[in-house]
Amino acid sequence: MKSLMMQGTRILATGSAVPNSGLSNEQITQLVDTSDEWISTRTGIQERRLLTGSNTSIIDLATLAASKALDKISMSPCQIDLIILATSTPNDLFGSASQVQAKLKALNAVSFDLTAACSGFVLAMITASQFLQSGSYDTVLVIGADVLSKWIDWSDRNTCILFGDAAGAMILQSCLKNNNQILGFQLNTNGDHYSQLCLSYKNNKSKNPVLGIYQGSFNYISMNGKEVYKFAVSQVPLSILKCLNSLNLSVSDISWLLLHQANKRIITAVADKLSISLSKIIINLNKYGNTSAASIPLALDEAISQNKIFNNDILVMSGFGAGLTWGTAVIKWKY
Ligand code: UT7
Repeated sequence: MKSLMMQGTRILATGSAVPNSGLSNEQITQLVDTSDEWISTRTGIQERRLLTGSNTSIIDLATLAASKALDKISMSPCQIDLIILATSTPNDLFGSASQVQAKLKALNAVSFDLTAACSGFVLAMITASQFLQSGSYDTVLVIGADVLSKWIDWSDRNTCILFGDAAGAMILQSCLKNNNQILGFQLNTNGDHYSQLCLSYKNNKSKNPVLGIYQGSFNYISMNGKEVYKFAVSQVPLSILKCLNSLNLSVSDISWLLLHQANKRIITAVADKLSISLSKIIINLNKYGNTSAASIPLALDEAISQNKIFNNDILVMSGFGAGLTWGTAVIKWKY
């Protein structure tokens, strides 16, 4: 247990990784009845990356993103106390974080998965900050990684146009309270509407005659796009405003709005509701599609590498998606 004087969270570095293989809108027209024009105008997505090959998995993507973050600050993986892997597409239902720990050779790290779909990264980052601010751990690696391409019905045009595979990582460390970068958060769940976007387990029709139990498997992603769209556009601005209010900040204090990269129309509608200029919005979904838990750290890492983010910038991050879950974190950026 570290000193309770260390009550802040510093963000030390970010990293990201995407698979090499790309899939354009034009290529999707060979799979389902759609067009580049429809996908571009309704979503803003032009291409996405897919994890191909039988020997690569989410572990490779997550480990690569984490290694890149560690390399940026020349940190040894042995310094990490805790790894939280936000994913809804593990390669093992018991969790994938321990495989990332082993591959990274983070010998001193406790590791576990956190499942919250597209809100996963925000929830994992806030979970990490609680461990840091309580003094329980000193250094935490948070990874958002998803390979939804493995769980999509590639004959369903309602969903297959949207998603891509990626991983994004962030290294956080405890610090003195006056250096704290995670200023506040606001998190929500409404399980009543879970069926609007799910990847559910389904029993087979017949039961084991001796035990009387049913066994089954997971379905593909199913989504009521319109309802998820309405939910995001109505709830995300409220979450952002609540979070800002709790910190005595206003929309005009925001330097960058970094929303989950689900649909360009959702992002611009939220920005519109907040009356925030489009020049303050980070968007990269045109290149990667919706990468679920990876989307926020991937977009953040890219914005940092493009030198968009400056010292003392106020970043507002909001994740939203299956659960339904949604939430906001307000960050003060420091190099
Ligand atoms: O991570 C969070 C997860 N998900 C989301 O955030 C998704 C939120 N929802 C959305 O982004 C949008 O609802 C979609 C992009 C999924 C769909 O856009 P929409 O404007 O809500 O379209 P729609 O579902 O209302 O469909 C409009 C029409 C329909 O045809 P009719 O009934 O008007 O004749 C659909 O059958 O477009 C048709 N359609 C398509 N046409 C060409 C649906 N998908 C496609 C497609 N290509 N891929």
